[in-house]
Amino acid sequence: MGQIRLDKWLSSGAGLTRSQARKVIKAGRVTVDGQTCRKADWKLDQDGSTVLLDGRPVGYQAFSYLMMNKPAGLVSATRDQREKTVLSLLDQIPKGLFPVGRLDKDTEGLLLLTNDGPLAHDLLAPGRHVDKTYYALLDGPVGREEIEAFARGLDIGDDKSTLPARLELGDRPDQVYITLQEGRFHQVKRMARAVGRTVLFLKRISMGPLVLDEKLKPGDWRPLTKEELAALGKDIS
Ligand code: URA
Repeated sequence: MGQIRLDKWLSSGAGLTRSQARKVIKAGRVTVDGQTCRKADWKLDQDGSTVLLDGRPVGYQAFSYLMMNKPAGLVSATRDQREKTVLSLLDQIPKGLFPVGRLDKDTEGLLLLTNDGPLAHDLLAPGRHVDKTYYALLDGPVGREEIEAFARGLDIGDDKSTLPARLELGDRPDQVYITLQEGRFHQVKRMARAVGRTVLFLKRISMGPLVLDEKLKPGDWRPLTKEELAALGKDIS
């Protein structure tokens, strides 16, 4: 039977960062098997402990799920010989955590980090066609012609054309929202190139049911909420 630290238990099950978990423990808001426990490093039996936060039960979540607003300048990898990775932003790195899919070094926005391999597979498997939406600033305007070209799918130099993609105009005709059903290498930039445009700035704003939390500044992250986990088919209640 595995032993888990109380702060780890709480952060996994209550959607708190480790330091938030330590604060609520210090504040006396947590009971273990009926007794208030103020020790963050208290060890619990994974299967035989009852933990309450403010009187509400908190179960242990074996996997971690974090939403990050990836900043430009970091690579979406667990390790890299030369570059700083997105994991360098975390204070504690849950075992086996990895980014689900890649954003380019200069791309910002929604990145899911988890150690739940099957979930990552579900989100990334080519046959699943999980929608990913990006905001892009282009070097010039686009219009109906480009919208139609994206909708047909584009030849970007691979064996096959891309699947149909949605191109929507933002406030200005050089600001667009692009929704892809696949995740090919540099896909947004290559699709923009195929219609004669260059991407000047790129940010992912959604992936499947997950939408980038606007409160997260580039470099910030937080655990997924219960609602977000439920939308991914992970019920932690
Ligand atoms: N498409 C790109 O060109 N870059 C990314 O980072 C993501 C999608």
